[in-house]
Amino acid sequence: MSTYQKLGVIVSDIETITPTIKRFTLIPDENTQLPSFTSGSHIFVQMRDGDNQYNNAYSLLNSPFDEQRYQIAVKREEYSRGGSAFMHEKVAIGNKLIVSEPNNLFALAPGAKKHILIAGGIGITPFMSHLHELEQQNAEYELHYCYRNAGEPAFTPELMASRFKDKVVCHISSKGSRLELDTLISRLPEGSHVYTCGSHSLNEGVRQAAQKVGFPDQQLHFEQFAIEDKTGDAFTVVLAKSGVELEVDSESTILQVIERNKAASIESLCREGVCGTCETMILEGEADHRDQYLSDEERKSQTSMLICCSRAKGKRLVLDL
Ligand code: FES
Repeated sequence: MSTYQKLGVIVSDIETITPTIKRFTLIPDENTQLPSFTSGSHIFVQMRDGDNQYNNAYSLLNSPFDEQRYQIAVKREEYSRGGSAFMHEKVAIGNKLIVSEPNNLFALAPGAKKHILIAGGIGITPFMSHLHELEQQNAEYELHYCYRNAGEPAFTPELMASRFKDKVVCHISSKGSRLELDTLISRLPEGSHVYTCGSHSLNEGVRQAAQKVGFPDQQLHFEQFAIEDKTGDAFTVVLAKSGVELEVDSESTILQVIERNKAASIESLCREGVCGTCETMILEGEADHRDQYLSDEERKSQTSMLICCSRAKGKRLVLDL
């Protein structure tokens, strides 16, 4: 977590929300003062399990006006890299953890006429904090919460008992109440912003619906912590400082290949294109950007890339390493 301030926290509570989702409440240890955060922020949680180290990003789901604690929800993923299993099985109340200061890549757009929040499954988490902010702003908003089966949604009892309940619409696809994205987006007043957090197919559905009705791209916002696809054509990466040339095969990332060959020492944190820690300057060639960190302008400039996830557009890339 080199680019982020590290914070020592204590797990003060763990609640089972569903059979696969737990909520963790984190309070500062004796040396820490928790920085305030804005709604939509995430933190990285550092986990050490023997020789393995994980740094997973989780949205903060408590109110940004609650300055005494951070709350995150962790879904136990069947095929996780280990982080979610660690949180579920090895973390107990009273344990100390290291987390990063909050960072926000999914903030509410200032001045939006209306905010439309679309959550798929565990993608509800960043919206749990946005609801507090939107109420505080007295903003116009709706939350559409989509899930497959009536038995699986996290936080619905809490939402339905909250002051936000009239703004929440649940869409259960197994019951035939799937969200009609085309209809929703075509009826939005001008100046609305749409925020989506969920699966790749939900994100794509929103993108396509927006395109169909000419909804402006810059008013669409997406939160997605795991890169769906880091694979692609093989290419050569050249490390300019040492002159080392490496072949990046179609299944590996540049970072993995450099680490495997011990060709340079690279700092990394999320390894999912979220945190920016592995940002590297491009000297020759063009990147096929897959990250969620760089802005559109930064991507277009082809000045730098996130080597934990992005690839080359051509056959060769020269990096300032
Ligand atoms: S390690 Fe976080 S963006 Fe690459």
